[in-house]
Amino acid sequence: MRSTAGRSKSLFDREWSFHKGDIRIPYAVKAGMTGGITDAGIRKDGEWLDIAFNDKGMGEQQLDWSAVSLPHDWCVEQQYVQDEHLGARDGSHGYLPGGIGFYRKVFELPAEAAGSKWLIRFDGVSGTSTVWVNGHLIGSHHGGYIGFSYDLSDVLRYGDEGRNVIVVKVDATECEGWWYEGCGIYRHVWLENMDLLHVAEYGTYITTPEVAKEQATVNIRTRIRNNYTEGLRVSLQTVIYDGAGLQVCASSADTYAEWYAETELAQSFQVKQPMLWGPDSPFLYKAVSIVLHEGQELDRYETVFGIRSIRFDPQEGFFLNGEPLVIKGTCNHQDFAGVGVALPDSLIEYKLKLLQEMGSNAYRSAHHPPTPELLDICDRIGMLVMDENRKLDSSPNGLSQLERLLYRDRNHPSVIIWSMENEEVLEGTVTGARILKTLADTTRRIDPTRPTCAAMNHGWNENGYNDVVEITGYNYGHRDHLDIRDHEQYPERLMIGSECASYTATRGIYEDDPARGYCSEYGTNIPSWGCTPQQAWTDLVNNRFLTGVFMWTGFDYRGEPTPYLWPCINSHFGLMDTCGFPKDSYYYMRAVWREEPMVHLLPHWNWPGSEGKPVEVRVFANTDTVELYLNGRSLGEQQADRNGYLTWNVIYEPGQLEAVGKRGGLEAARKSVVTAGQPHQIQLIPDRHEARADGTDTIPVRVAVLDRDGNIVPTADNEIRFEVTGSGTLLGVGNGNPSSHEPDKSSLRRAFNGWCLALVQTSSRGGSITLSAVSEGLAAAELNLQAVSGDDTQI
Ligand code: GAL
Repeated sequence: MRSTAGRSKSLFDREWSFHKGDIRIPYAVKAGMTGGITDAGIRKDGEWLDIAFNDKGMGEQQLDWSAVSLPHDWCVEQQYVQDEHLGARDGSHGYLPGGIGFYRKVFELPAEAAGSKWLIRFDGVSGTSTVWVNGHLIGSHHGGYIGFSYDLSDVLRYGDEGRNVIVVKVDATECEGWWYEGCGIYRHVWLENMDLLHVAEYGTYITTPEVAKEQATVNIRTRIRNNYTEGLRVSLQTVIYDGAGLQVCASSADTYAEWYAETELAQSFQVKQPMLWGPDSPFLYKAVSIVLHEGQELDRYETVFGIRSIRFDPQEGFFLNGEPLVIKGTCNHQDFAGVGVALPDSLIEYKLKLLQEMGSNAYRSAHHPPTPELLDICDRIGMLVMDENRKLDSSPNGLSQLERLLYRDRNHPSVIIWSMENEEVLEGTVTGARILKTLADTTRRIDPTRPTCAAMNHGWNENGYNDVVEITGYNYGHRDHLDIRDHEQYPERLMIGSECASYTATRGIYEDDPARGYCSEYGTNIPSWGCTPQQAWTDLVNNRFLTGVFMWTGFDYRGEPTPYLWPCINSHFGLMDTCGFPKDSYYYMRAVWREEPMVHLLPHWNWPGSEGKPVEVRVFANTDTVELYLNGRSLGEQQADRNGYLTWNVIYEPGQLEAVGKRGGLEAARKSVVTAGQPHQIQLIPDRHEARADGTDTIPVRVAVLDRDGNIVPTADNEIRFEVTGSGTLLGVGNGNPSSHEPDKSSLRRAFNGWCLALVQTSSRGGSITLSAVSEGLAAAELNLQAVSGDDTQI
């Protein structure tokens, strides 16, 4: 038994080396034949690999290693190429090359580290990965969206045995989806250490079968793994703490743990006056599981959970804690400007915050398992989640991916639906129904507390396909009122708007421009299967049995440049662009999703040459009335149509166009657009001024081009050069232009329709950070930020 008890989980993201391109690996190493290597006289015990991947490379092959930190996406570091012969992925994947890359990390462990269990956990690698440690082939993993872990205890070197070398090959030549997927180790890696007697991986399962205001039942099942070579008497102490860290209840149980086996213990708790979890009150609890042998604590494992009940009704939709709640959701892929899919946790949180500010209360991780941190944040901020399996696949690999997702995510209060698949070709077929049933049964076995769902775009009522899941998903159910007709025919069916709208718009553009690849914000070029946000939302308002909407999408994403192709490289579906800048439809959603009074008007008011010509002005508002003024003259007042929009036909003259919304006859909201002058100055608007000095925390800085009077110039495209000095670096840049081929890893970026974005990441040293922005002909700007030191436990 070790003298030092407990477990540690350390981020293993720093000090990796990266080599882009393939490396010739001899067969013996590929196959993990370490004995073979010794026999060949190369080096003993796999040290061979160590040499193979050092700076000199192997034999004649020159390797070019560069220092990287994880998360890392090499795809976004490359140049856009249209030609697939040059290695490019096609337009739906974003016109960047895939390929092969290698990662390598060297680390040491003290002699005392021997004798316990060491686990390496990859949260997600885009591409098929192969891992060698000290020359031993450890494993291969296929599936870029679910994590995997390996027990390295036997092959690691401790103390004088030498240093450890881990090598990861990532083969990202193939794609899994039809959107931008990135390449490489794009999520966190963890090194975990625990006693041989411990809570098994994802070893707690916490459910809340009875929830009332006065009291809730909390059931906890805990799997204990004994990797000693003898059976042991074990005690499990479970303590529940509330969000303030106060102990709420505790219980102990004893058992005999067979050697090399898992033993499950069930405990039940009554929590008095529970603080229920929900979007407006995301109260969390923590269960601490303490594993003891002969009074000695050998493991301590924490699980965050929430107390809440969910129910779906075929007529009235979703209920949370007994109260009806409309699901106001968005679907989202993972990427963001400046980083591809390698988002620091703080950027994941930023995206979620922007969605919440729009009034959204639900997130669909389309079409794949999200990163674990996203769910932690959703728990913390109160965002509901439709947690999605990658695909309709009941092969051993498909089932194993689904099972990992379920075991990993089933304690998150935010997760309310398990989505089994999205728009698979086999929907509505006999074979498809069999596969879907296997997935749904697997899910019900591992977590019967949440319904399963299939996000379908055809085959709803064929061959019993959708009958094997609890909720039928309607992707674009508005077509021919499919969803409404199905409800009439199958009134007991649980339904949800799993994918809605697909409205194509480019931020700040008011006329379709196929040559440049832009879509008008008026929505004059939406795809045949799509509809306006107004239609998608009104359908739900009028048909509560639809439970909710998941708008396609919250953010633009790389790939799927529908309705165009090259030079367009990213989608137009977002309510926000790839940088999180709102498009006009964002304000529509905000008006219907939030109660605070607001008005929004479009287009911008810079139309030189259009003097005397009519311009269609649209207003989104949740006030009772809206009055429009041009240069102080009233153009009339209209009753607001909250679920639709108001229009005025305005004869253009430069100046100020202003909308004033009233509630109960009193002014409640006002917004104006102004004809801006020439670009004159840069403005830097940080999301916050302070960040943790941990080498990852990232502050998004919005960069605006203003005229002399401080108005945004809505057509400005000035190129801006950034420099970061002090305790930070420039992580990346973006501007939301779906046809920009400028690199995101650069200190230069053009504004697009007045805006661009700079991502400032802290270093691990505390201190001040200065971001400066200059552009020819513009007054420069400078911003001071602060990196604040805290705990740092990375290896
Ligand atoms: C859906 C699909 C999404 C995306 C979208 C574009 O059919 O599920 O992944 O392709 O269409 O409108």
